[in-house]
Amino acid sequence: MSREDKLLQSIAEQLANQGYAIINHALPDELTQQLYQRVTTLVPEVFKPAGIGRYQAHHLDEDYRRDRIHWLDANDPAQADYLVWMEALRQGINQQLFMGLFDYESHFAHYAPGTFYKRHLDAFKGESNRVVTTVFYLNPAWCEADGGEIALYADEQQEQPFKTLYPQAGTLLVFLSDQFPHEVRCAKRDRYSIAGWFRVKALGAVDPPR
Ligand code: OGA
Ligand code: MN
Repeated sequence: MSREDKLLQSIAEQLANQGYAIINHALPDELTQQLYQRVTTLVPEVFKPAGIGRYQAHHLDEDYRRDRIHWLDANDPAQADYLVWMEALRQGINQQLFMGLFDYESHFAHYAPGTFYKRHLDAFKGESNRVVTTVFYLNPAWCEADGGEIALYADEQQEQPFKTLYPQAGTLLVFLSDQFPHEVRCAKRDRYSIAGWFRVKALGAVDPPR
């Protein structure tokens, strides 16, 4: 089995057993560096404030969420490579867990110093096509003093996270979107990641991407 096949199998196994997976150096380091290079040289204007909710409920709330986002562009070679890798992950998860994931949407996220994303769920059962969340981190040499951890909670009631993770370059976090409330704690330096969602087709309509 190739390294990539083993990795895909391990992610699917972790997802099935515990609902989430964490992988260090998930992608080739060179690709991680290229993505970091891209995201840090984009002109600031392409980053937009991110919203909360969809359709009528979609609104901006700076008290809640202060990252700025830029949807991935498959015309850029590094971003295209990232999407190829995520397509392999989509197929790997479907083959092993029969989840029927049919597409993937993803954006760069920039948390400037002093910004955060308060505790939230990415999807509510029966209300979203987003089924599996991925977050891929791009920040070289992140230290504890830089803050910006993601904290994962077992359920809505839990007050203490069961897991906190620094946004270290190369780390990939994958989790069931409707299962784990999570938050991004205040970052003390620029924090870059790629957040993405594998989606299923709903019985009725499919949410438009984004
Ligand atoms: C999100 C999110 C987490 C992170 O974009 O929904 O929770 O660590 N991101 O960037
Ligand atoms: Mn989230």
